Amino acid sequence: MIVRRLWSRFDRVRPWWLMASCLLAGLLLYGRFVMDRQRFSAQGVTSPGSTPDAFLTGSELYAKYCSVCHGADGDGRGSAARYLNPKARNLRTGSFRLVSTENRLPSWADVEAVLEHGIPGTSMRSYRELSQECRAKLVQEVFRLRRQGLREEVLRSLREEWPDVEPCAEDVEQLVDAQLAAGPIVAVPTFSSPSPEQLALGREVFLTFTCNTCHGDNATGDTDVRLVDEDGVPTRPRNLVAGELKGGREPASVYRRILLGIPGTPMPACRVLTETQRINLVHYCLSLSREPQTPSTNYTRAIATITRGSTAAGTRTPPGR
Ligand code: HEC
Ligand code: HEC
Repeated sequence: MIVRRLWSRFDRVRPWWLMASCLLAGLLLYGRFVMDRQRFSAQGVTSPGSTPDAFLTGSELYAKYCSVCHGADGDGRGSAARYLNPKARNLRTGSFRLVSTENRLPSWADVEAVLEHGIPGTSMRSYRELSQECRAKLVQEVFRLRRQGLREEVLRSLREEWPDVEPCAEDVEQLVDAQLAAGPIVAVPTFSSPSPEQLALGREVFLTFTCNTCHGDNATGDTDVRLVDEDGVPTRPRNLVAGELKGGREPASVYRRILLGIPGTPMPACRVLTETQRINLVHYCLSLSREPQTPSTNYTRAIATITRGSTAAGTRTPPGR
């Protein structure tokens, strides 16, 4: 009896009660979100996964998505870096591989393209799932870290050269700017389907311009030439038949790699070739290239680098080189 009376009273106030508790719960959740955000930005770290990406700054996005490989300050020494082949780029001072400018310095668009497409055949994946705004913040962060790294390097070398003079800030900034100023974008011709003659001429250039000394006569990269990258880490020529192409299989990308080379690696820039020779080479290289049956892994790539040259002696080639 008593219970029923109480319930009927409660029934009358129920809509108000419900609305009030919803409002209170909403306020509490919002307050929690604001507090979290303040706490994490004060610490300079991201809330692990709980803050939507759109609210994060470039540094926070970088800490969330990139620092595990590239390191907190971009030096390429993140906690996962030791397991990678090739190594994660030192974003501060390392040469960027996929460039499209006359002076081989990375443009904003070059870094943007890397974030969109990743670098096939490496652990650098595509971040296409992030919004364009987030990717733009990340590109800005990459260049901010790079400016910081280059500034430190310039200061170090100036102090080494003139130990008694404190470097002038303006001079330092000028030197840093010069190392960041990407030149004009190189023009790329349009490509149509190659004729058999173009492929034969491409093969000829491949041999006369000694691409085969590194890539081998059959372009699989099975040569004995010892190669290291700019950090002295052993590397290997691309297997142009079964290897993944870092810049992708668009003729425009292969053209840029041949014209500008791949900075930081032994792959040279071929500026002396004529335009027609370069076009024929692009066609030839792409005519050899097959989509790898087994994608390479850090392990297979490391083994392939260590055992280079031994395949000629009959050692098994690891899959997906
Ligand atoms: C799982 C490890 C890993 C993560 C995570 C990662 N990268 Fe990389 N990144 C690499 C490796 C490895 C390379 C070097 C590939 C090579 O040498 O070709 C690289 C290269 C790069 C380059 C150099 C491009 C060039 O042309 O040389 C940039 C820029 C870059 N990463 C930015 C980022 C950003 C920004 C993020 C986060 C959104 C990120 N990376 C996350 C492994 C990673
Ligand atoms: C001194 C050795 C050397 C010579 C000579 C050389 N290359 Fe390379 N090449 C390399 C190395 C090393 C790489 C892989 C670089 C990397 O990505 O780390 C490479 C990569 C490439 C790629 C792959 C591009 C991509 O997107 O992954 C192509 C295509 C290529 N070379 C074509 C050529 C052609 C054509 C010539 C002759 C004009 C040539 N190479 C001469 C060492 C060489």
